[in-house]
Amino acid sequence: MRANVVASQIKLHQQYGGVYPSLAKREHAKNLPFALEKALKHAKLSRKNPGISALAVTAGPGLDPCLWTGITMTQNIASQWNLPIIPVNHVEGHLLMSLFSQGKTLKVPPKSVFPLIALIVSGGHTQLILSKSLGKYSILGETRDDAAGECFDKTARILGLPYPGGPAVAATAALAGKPANVFSKPNLPRPMIRTKDYDFSFSGLKTAVLYDWQSRTQKVRESQEYIATMAKEIQQSIIDVLVAKTSRAVQQYQAKSLVLGGGVAANKELRTQLQKELAQQTPKPAFFAAPPKLCTDNGLMIALAGYVHQNAKTKDIQAIAAKPHLKIQ
Ligand code: KG4
Ligand code: ZN
Repeated sequence: MRANVVASQIKLHQQYGGVYPSLAKREHAKNLPFALEKALKHAKLSRKNPGISALAVTAGPGLDPCLWTGITMTQNIASQWNLPIIPVNHVEGHLLMSLFSQGKTLKVPPKSVFPLIALIVSGGHTQLILSKSLGKYSILGETRDDAAGECFDKTARILGLPYPGGPAVAATAALAGKPANVFSKPNLPRPMIRTKDYDFSFSGLKTAVLYDWQSRTQKVRESQEYIATMAKEIQQSIIDVLVAKTSRAVQQYQAKSLVLGGGVAANKELRTQLQKELAQQTPKPAFFAAPPKLCTDNGLMIALAGYVHQNAKTKDIQAIAAKPHLKIQ
């Protein structure tokens, strides 16, 4: 399987500093037919008879109007090509993308990877999931407010960094040196790091960043040094919380593997620090993460979820509906 970017809304959302549902829906509707043409051409499939056996589409979770745009289009193609549809879960797509990734190739994982813990971190989700077999899950904990990616995006905006905030904060953090004594060192919280549950909360971190920024003079706020120091501290605060809770879950459930997925899983520091922490456990769990480009949203992860859930394919295509709050189970 190969992945290619056939359509992206990132440039558009950059102008507005985030994702707006009506805008995203309009763009999906505009881009999907072109994306389909491009994908078929690239895969050398004919439009008349593409020679495929089913179509997979995201049923949820997500923004209702965006989900419907994808579902309606899939229903249209399914009736044109007389194909069944497999409705899939977006979060599971991220999880499987990382679990099946072996460098640049994809492989069905052996049974020995279970039980596994998955940390799925994206713009909409922060979840710790336990899986004892392929396609079966229970959520151990999740964010009570903002998702980790959302926290990157919102704090980036405070600092005047572009959307999406995650890659911008990561790149800026890498520029941070030892801060000179021009301003006091920021001291950001690690929300819920010591609570016994597996839940997260990131909105307090965003507020702490705002308060710190407001307390600085304009000269400090606009200095490269302050922005880079804050970016590094924001990234480290998010990583500290994610690593501490994930490592505890792996230990408690004696997990054989840890799967890191979702857009935030593209973060190099998170990948490195999490692996370093897991390497200290005995026995050391296996670590799975998709290549960074396939951690952020892509069609391949949805195709993969469709492959795993072939049994769920249905010819009753009109019964497929958007489920904005769909939970992995
Ligand atoms: O999974 P995804 O592409 O879309 C959702 O399902 O939400 O995740 C997007 C999120 C954004 O919040 C973005 O800032 C974050 O992933 N992200 C990153 C990095 N690349 C993308 N966060 C931290 N470091 C990165 N390198
Ligand atoms: Zn996603």
